Amino acid sequence: MAKSYKIGVIPGDGTGSEVIAEGKKVLDAASKKFGFGLQYTFYDVGGDRYLKTGELLPDSVLAEFKAQDALYLGAIGHPDVKPGILEKQILLRTRFELELYINLRPVKLYPGVETPLKNKGPNEIDFVVVRENTEGLYTGAGGVFKKGTPDEIAIQESINTRKGVERCLRFAFEYTRKRNKRKKLTLVGKTNVLTYAFDLWERAFYEVGKEYPDITTDYTHVDAACMWMVKNPEWFDVAVTDNLFGDIITDLGAMIQGGMGIACGGNINPHAVSMFEPIGGSAPKYTGKNQINPLAAILAGAMMLQILGEEKASSAIEDAVARALKSDIKSVEAGRMGMGTREVGDLIAKYI
Ligand code: IPM
Ligand code: MN
Repeated sequence: MAKSYKIGVIPGDGTGSEVIAEGKKVLDAASKKFGFGLQYTFYDVGGDRYLKTGELLPDSVLAEFKAQDALYLGAIGHPDVKPGILEKQILLRTRFELELYINLRPVKLYPGVETPLKNKGPNEIDFVVVRENTEGLYTGAGGVFKKGTPDEIAIQESINTRKGVERCLRFAFEYTRKRNKRKKLTLVGKTNVLTYAFDLWERAFYEVGKEYPDITTDYTHVDAACMWMVKNPEWFDVAVTDNLFGDIITDLGAMIQGGMGIACGGNINPHAVSMFEPIGGSAPKYTGKNQINPLAAILAGAMMLQILGEEKASSAIEDAVARALKSDIKSVEAGRMGMGTREVGDLIAKYI
């Protein structure tokens, strides 16, 4: 009997449902062509449900997430909800509770896509960021004292555990080996100032690195990494870093690969269910206009199939995207694609 996968779909807010619809169209085309099944369960968690019912992420839904083979997320973020609520209670809670300890974010410039970097092309812009996804400044550790007074004190602590850091580094080394490109792994940190946190990272990096003699190790401070990503992006093969630095440098990465319209990511637990998403937000100003670019969501779908073990189907989606970018799609920016959201989905599905 053909394999079948249970996919939990969270379209989420704003343009999330529009891009997820196209992603699903493409996934269905791939499943038909390559002979495996996809059974979807839709979850309406997000800003609208919260505004209507006050519910964020019920425990029962979280339990159902754990029973899926993968999760496919559109976007979380609603203009009528105060920043921090949906992000923390839905997105971050899912990352933490499902131990999605890797955030894998490829920075790849496809031929035909414009980069703001002068004299750089697809040969120079092709690396992957491995972002730690469950610790650092994201845990909520810290607190506030005397809030709203002139004596207010706000403390936000970065939690770095040897276990959490090491499992992330180990994934990064394995990934660099498997990617088999330049076999170079760069630790991005701030050892000159964050002398506790990045001392731990640095020691663990070189210790774990001994087990990977085939991988070249390199280190750069995060501020310099921003500089190199713009000046010499070709220096990177795989970069590994903590949660916040990874968040920041992957927005920069998204821009040099053409924009949010094409940037996808995977929130990965290598031993259990993982969640895949376009890394851009809910883009409320484009909602319902058939203008948002679904390629990031489509590529997130390809990444999902790759992790599920459907490598051929995954490559077929990526090839179809590359083909469309080369010959049909004018720009990866929303509203400038030369066709609508649905037409992009139709085209990629057709190319598969
Ligand atoms: C991302 C987003 C999230 C993050 C926000 C929405 C909490 O920016 O996935 O990069 O900071 O991780
Ligand atoms: Mn971000």
